Amino acid sequence: MLEIDDLEVRFGHVHALRGVTLEAARSEVLVLIGPNGAGKSTVLNSVSGLCEPSSGRVRIEGADLTGHSPREVVRAGVTLVPQGRRLFGSMSVRENLELGAYTHKGERNAQAKTVNKIARWAEFFPEVGQRLSTQSSLLSGGQQQIVAIIRGLMSEPRMLMMDEPSIGLAPIVVKRIGEEIRRLNRESGIGIVMVEQNVEFALTVADRVAILVHGRVVHVAPPAALRDPALLAHYFFGDASAPPPTGGKT
Ligand SMILES: Nc1ncnc2c1ncn2[C@@H]1O[C@H](COP(=O)(O)OP(=O)(O)O)[C@@H](O)[C@H]1O
Ligand SMILES: [Mg+2]
Repeated sequence: MLEIDDLEVRFGHVHALRGVTLEAARSEVLVLIGPNGAGKSTVLNSVSGLCEPSSGRVRIEGADLTGHSPREVVRAGVTLVPQGRRLFGSMSVRENLELGAYTHKGERNAQAKTVNKIARWAEFFPEVGQRLSTQSSLLSGGQQQIVAIIRGLMSEPRMLMMDEPSIGLAPIVVKRIGEEIRRLNRESGIGIVMVEQNVEFALTVADRVAILVHGRVVHVAPPAALRDPALLAHYFFGDASAPPPTGGKT
């Protein structure tokens, strides 16, 4: 369970998060959507310890991790798959995955465990698993996204956060990544918290959707309740401080 409680983040005079409260369970895929600049990445970055909240709390399985270092957050069981994948293109898939296990470096049998984990996820994602020796820049965009996800899994998270996994991918590939993310959640029991610009994709992959506008969560609902163009237009293009057109609740 990940709990975000009344989180405030400022960057100088930019008030990026204005009291964000959200919960995510391991059993679900929670997707955060909202206009560009709403603060979606800042939510993930604050949980990850990449930016420091001015107030509010972040708890992981009940333990307060607010303001802790990225390494401590990873060790507590929450890992971020960054936007844009950030693979080392000249390195092999296997070498990229080994880097994901860095938080376990120095532990007993760390190397053998890394080998086992790579084997496990190679089996779970065979399309990438069959290409462990390939230079990662030679993989397709979708395969590279899977590598970025497995690299995140190497730290053995209970919750995996992803910032815009669909970015730069063709629609058919986006659909497949969505199916893989849902399968990962169902079969491994790892909770997923995802940020997406692609609303259509978000609605197909999520169990619950949270809409963030101007640093505030304005709506949380199952995707079926958000298949309403007027409601989405209200939050994305309208005056989000006004009440939603039909039946919405904050
Ligand atoms: N490191 C930073 N320094 C200054 N301003 C930032 C920084 N990161 C984000 N911001 C600002 O905070 C707001 C929210 O950004 P972000 O979380 O990236 O939005 P989103 O991911 O929803 O597009 C934006 O106004 C953005 O310009
Ligand atoms: Mg962003």
